[in-house]
Amino acid sequence: MLEKDIERTLYSREEIAAKTKELGQKITADYADKTPLVIGILKGAIPFMAELVRDIDVYLEMDFMDVSSYGDALVSSGEVKIVKDLDTNVEGRDILIVEDIIDSGRTLNYLVELFKYRKANSVKLVTLLDKPEGRVVDLTPDYFGFHVPNEFVVGYGLDYKDRYRNLPFVGVLKPEIYESNS
Ligand code: PRP
Ligand code: MN
Ligand code: MG
Repeated sequence: MLEKDIERTLYSREEIAAKTKELGQKITADYADKTPLVIGILKGAIPFMAELVRDIDVYLEMDFMDVSSYGDALVSSGEVKIVKDLDTNVEGRDILIVEDIIDSGRTLNYLVELFKYRKANSVKLVTLLDKPEGRVVDLTPDYFGFHVPNEFVVGYGLDYKDRYRNLPFVGVLKPEIYESNS
């Protein structure tokens, strides 16, 4: 049903699963002697994080944070606000932030600085998608799945008006969907 709103598939369920496994293996090797605190950024990170943690074979803890940047707008407002903070004290912890996409980089830039200020031992970033063309702040993820073109992509956590997050692949939304404004 959802597929009718998608112009084309960018990354299939199978490609995402294979890439996630590869990332999980790298992260497992890099954190072999650590117990990372894996932090998912609500809500977009949920599907990717759920899959990724099952491919990481070290002791880890999970927590979630909700920050707002976009709302329903197509372009970032540049403001970042904490909607839900962590339950965990990050002091001395090795943090791995999980995102579905890095676009302008503002959300992650803010969070990296926040966790450093809160005295984390290390802060790394993993994102399923990276959109380097969208960047307004200098930020490079430590691990990423795919570079995406500068188009409106949805699925696998990425939303348009809070929908399409449950699409099991990443695709480009038909322009008529966001142009019709319904
Ligand atoms: C999206 C996405 C990232 C962020 C990336 O989240 O999931 O968290 O924007 O944009 P940036 O690099 O320009 O900061 P959004 O704020 O839309 O919330 P959501 O995850 O609940 O959809
Ligand atoms: Mn998000
Ligand atoms: Mg969003």
